[in-house]
Amino acid sequence: MFYAHITGWGMAVPATTLTNADLEKMVETSDEWIRERTGILERRIAREGEYPADLATRAALQALQVANLSPADLELVICATSSPEHLFPATACLVQDRIGANKAGAFDLSAACSGFIYAVQMAAQSIRSGALRNALVIGTENLSRFVDWNDRNTCILFGDGAGAFVLQASERPGGVLSAVLRSDGSGADLLSVPAGGSRFPASAESVRSGQHFIHMDGREVFRFATRVMAQSTREALQAAGLRVEDVHLIIPHQANYRIIEAAARGLKLPIEKFVVNVQRYGNTSTASIPIAVCEAVQQGQLQAGDKIVLVGFGAGLTWGALTAEWTGPLPAERRVNVRGFVWLARLRSLYRRLVRFIEGILWGRREV
Ligand code: COA
Repeated sequence: MFYAHITGWGMAVPATTLTNADLEKMVETSDEWIRERTGILERRIAREGEYPADLATRAALQALQVANLSPADLELVICATSSPEHLFPATACLVQDRIGANKAGAFDLSAACSGFIYAVQMAAQSIRSGALRNALVIGTENLSRFVDWNDRNTCILFGDGAGAFVLQASERPGGVLSAVLRSDGSGADLLSVPAGGSRFPASAESVRSGQHFIHMDGREVFRFATRVMAQSTREALQAAGLRVEDVHLIIPHQANYRIIEAAARGLKLPIEKFVVNVQRYGNTSTASIPIAVCEAVQQGQLQAGDKIVLVGFGAGLTWGALTAEWTGPLPAERRVNVRGFVWLARLRSLYRRLVRFIEGILWGRREV
C-alpha cells in the first residue's frame, strides 16, 4: 500500500510591492479601511514580462530541490490556477517544458482559490492508487492582470505569487490523510471573470464594459467563506479519524483576516493555530496556501509528524479541506542538482523547436 507524502515545497513572489498607501492614490480608499476590513497591508504585483509560468517554475524548482528529486522523475504536473497564461495550452505544460519534466503528463486545474487543495488531492489519489510515484502540484497566479484597478471593492484584495509541493509515494504511513472537496454552482455569479471564455468571447464591447475583470459580491462571498471553513475542516478531520485537538497547524486560504478569525471561532481554536500571512501578500488565490506552508516551514512551525489541515474556498463556488501528516524529504542516497536539469531542459526544448522548424522546411510546411 502506498501513501502520498509531501516531500518538497517552494514559493516565488514578484519583487514589486503595492502598499495600501499606493492604493489610496488610485481609488477612494484608506489604509485604515483596508487593514480593518481585510487585514491586508501590502501585496506583490508581477512586473511587465513576468507571468504565471515564470513564478511557477521558480517555486517548482525550489520544491524539487527540497525533495531532492530530479524533474525527469516526475510523472505528473498539475497547475492549479485562476489566471492561466492562456485558455490553452495549459500553464502546466509551459512549466513542464522549462523544468525538463520530460516523462510527466501536465494539465491545469480550475477550481479558483480552492484549486491547490483539489490538485493536491488529485495527485495524492494517483499516488495512493499505485498509478504513479512522483507528482508536482503548483498554484500560480497573476491575478493583478484581471483586477479592475478602478474598482475599490476588488483591487485592494488580490496579489500575485506561486507555491508548489512535490508529492511522493512511500510505503511508510503518513502524508495526505483525507480530503473533502465541495462545490455549489448556484453561487457561480458571486465571483467571476465573465468574459474571455466561449460564452462571452473577447470583443470590443466586452472590453469596454470591463467584463474581463474580476466581478465579486464581497458580502455574499464573505458569508459563504465563514460558513464553509470550519465546517469542511471538521469533515476532513472526521474522515481522517482525527480530532480538532490533534491538529498542530491549520493553513487556511489567505483571503481576509476576518474570515480566518471566524474559522478559528467556529473551531474553538486560538488564532495562533492558524498560519496567517495575508497582511503581506493579499489573496494570491491558488498560491496562498503553499506560500503560507513555505513560510511556516521557514519559521520552524512545522516538524515531521505534525498533523496539519489545509482549508480554502473560492469561485465556483468551491471549497475544500485536506488533512496531512507532515513528512519532509524522503531519505536519499545522492544529492540531485536540480538547476543542472534546467539547462538540459532548455537545450532539449530548443532542440525540439529546431527539429520542428527544419522538418517544416524539408516537408514543405514552412516557407523559407
Ligand atoms: N475602501 C473604502 N470603502 C470601501 C472599499 C474600500 N476599498 N470597498 C468597499 N467600501 C465601502 C462600500 O462601498 C460600503 O459602503 P456603503 O456602506 O456606503 O455601501 C462599505 O465600504 C462597506 O462595504 P461592505 O462590502 O459591507 O464591506 P465588508 O466589510 O463586507 O468588506 C470585503 C468588503 C470585500 C473586504 C469583504 O466583504 C470580503 O472580504 N469579502 C470576501 C471577498 C473574498 O474573499 N473574495 C475572494 C474569495 S477567494
